[in-house]
Amino acid sequence: MNKICPFILLTILVMSCHSIYEPQQTPKQPSFTSSPTKIPMPSPAPSPTIPNKPIFQKSLWIGRGVNLGNALEAPEEGAWGVVLQEEYFQLIKDAGFNSVRIPVRWSAHADQQAPFTIQTAFFDRVDWAVNQAISRDLTVVLNMHHYEEIYEDPKSHAQRFLALWAQISDHYKNYSDHLFFELLNEPHNALILESWNHLAQEAITLIRKTNPDRPIIVGPGDWNSISHLDYLKLPEEDQNLIVTFHYYQPFRFTHQGAEWVSGSNAWLGTRWNGSDIELQSIRFDFLSASLWGKAHNRPIYLGEFGAYSKADIDSRALWTSAVARTAEAYGFTWAYWEFCAGFGVYDPSLRQWNLPIKNALLPDE
Ligand code: GLC
Repeated sequence: MNKICPFILLTILVMSCHSIYEPQQTPKQPSFTSSPTKIPMPSPAPSPTIPNKPIFQKSLWIGRGVNLGNALEAPEEGAWGVVLQEEYFQLIKDAGFNSVRIPVRWSAHADQQAPFTIQTAFFDRVDWAVNQAISRDLTVVLNMHHYEEIYEDPKSHAQRFLALWAQISDHYKNYSDHLFFELLNEPHNALILESWNHLAQEAITLIRKTNPDRPIIVGPGDWNSISHLDYLKLPEEDQNLIVTFHYYQPFRFTHQGAEWVSGSNAWLGTRWNGSDIELQSIRFDFLSASLWGKAHNRPIYLGEFGAYSKADIDSRALWTSAVARTAEAYGFTWAYWEFCAGFGVYDPSLRQWNLPIKNALLPDE
């Protein structure tokens, strides 16, 4: 889209103040309720212009990805029903995905006291997962997930967070270029705005000592929500950063019946039909992420989106397809949340793909 009328810009400013993920709060209504102006898909879709800068080219390696969720970011692998298997990586590769995002709860496998040593056996296990992916030419986004204490009390945990990253970055410094780091999943509560900007900057500086060029992925506060992109301040001079956001709107649809979201049983039965207004809502949200990316000259990665299995499968497939295609039309790379648990694109008990979701994600494969 070349020209954006002032009305749309104004509407973006007013309406971009919404959160994507609010487990403890009254959930928001759909973010877009009425507008006389339609936002068309950017053109040409789905091959948007990608700047010819190294980080934009590298970010394309992520392409279409999937999160290996509920495994290594559970308190212990297996505690949430998923133990990673070698065959999963092959299935993911054969299906046509380009990357995996591996969420990891490093904080549960490291000492509480300085020097906050990460357990060797845990490193071995993460190495195994990373190598399974890299050896199949799947790009890896390795993150830090569910460091619950730091969201509540960033000051007390900053030193430990940085020590964990010092170890992780040193450990992987000689790994393939296809390994990307992501600083922290969904910073929220006390870790937003300046406190997050400051900590992220410190972590980036530290990682750069051992990994000068490796892509580092950073997302905004408020659970990586689009509405907090404008508060995210990144080191201007660092040209190897990718910016991520997560998308679960409408939350009452994607999280209906989710056991970890109180009150969500009341949303059971919420459908998503792909109506004009529903599609506009996604385009509207993604347009503001895209404008931010262009203004700041950073590639954008939609690192999580998905609708929980308690929603009807037709709505889930329609929504998943609409989000993935809209992301691609704006030039975002993406990773579906997630492979084989409650949002799963694969059913490990049947040992079968969840075809409506897989086809929604990868329609040409
Ligand atoms: C976030 C959480 C993850 C949850 C997902 C969907 O990534 O970290 O645990 O399953 O969002 O709610």
